[in-house]
Amino acid sequence: MVTSSAPGKVYLFGEHAVVYGEPAVPCAIERRARVTVEERDDDRIRVHAEDLSLDGFTVEYSSDSAATPDVDVSESVVEAGMRYVDAAVAQARDAADAPNAGFDVVIQSEIPLGAGLGSSAAVVTAAIDAATRELGVELSTAKVADRGYRAEHDAQNGDASRADTFCSATGGAVRVEGDDCRSIEAPDLPLVIGFDGSAGDTGELVSGVRQLREEYDFAADTVETVGDLVRSGEQALAAGDLDELGKLMNFNHGLLAALGVSSRSLDGMVWAARDANALGAKLTGAGGGGCIVALDPTDETQTALEFTPGCEDAFRAELDTEGVRVEDE
Ligand code: MEV
Repeated sequence: MVTSSAPGKVYLFGEHAVVYGEPAVPCAIERRARVTVEERDDDRIRVHAEDLSLDGFTVEYSSDSAATPDVDVSESVVEAGMRYVDAAVAQARDAADAPNAGFDVVIQSEIPLGAGLGSSAAVVTAAIDAATRELGVELSTAKVADRGYRAEHDAQNGDASRADTFCSATGGAVRVEGDDCRSIEAPDLPLVIGFDGSAGDTGELVSGVRQLREEYDFAADTVETVGDLVRSGEQALAAGDLDELGKLMNFNHGLLAALGVSSRSLDGMVWAARDANALGAKLTGAGGGGCIVALDPTDETQTALEFTPGCEDAFRAELDTEGVRVEDE
């Protein structure tokens, strides 16, 4: 039995546009998904998952039978979650050359599912690390990141960037542009998160942006503009200029809203943060609901979010410099 963990993340800049080759800057945060994997003596997969927003569910299936979830959460959340677990198991089987390996998988996550804090990438990278170790194979961090990307690519119908899984695998602040992934220096960032208690379907949101981009020139231009803004953001980050970073985060939120991935509650939390004099605020991740990230060295934003209708949880997040790691072997 092996347990591995990997951190969630916030996007300072660049989600969605990164899928089309623009740069993005995600930062790992000290909230982790822990995945315990034990090999079975048949080819079945049994998954038990718990996170902040779920009381827990269990799904058991084999390659020739459909999953019959025993669930207390919406089927779409379970289905989306299972797509990622399935894809991670396929990568582990492939890496260990064990196509019929079956597993009991237990997921315990401090990151709400589908809320924009990178739960799927954290689960996928931790699951690949734990399942391959359980089969006697130790992958480098770079290989876990690469296989994690391939798993997300499969789970999101071919639309995924390397950003989420690279960040979960390596930790810290990273810069991703196409296949070029690297760690970058970041100053102390006073990050505040607001969570509306809901989840978006990353696959659906990504394909919505693709359709918009195909139909309207403005959407293709918006994606490119996000790229320009990320390049300015990198300079502000390198200079430790938090005021400029905040301004650029505000612009990035506006551009994401133009691409149709914000929501009433995300906009409400962004405006609550701005009214509380946050340096900047934006939705983070795929959008559609979930989380915003704000920059504020004072307590004002967190307090304002706590009193904002539609905000279920508000908390500070620290940068996590450690990526995927084995917890117990
Ligand atoms: C989702 O966390 C981030 C997106 O850019 C998708 C991706 O990069 O794969 C929306």
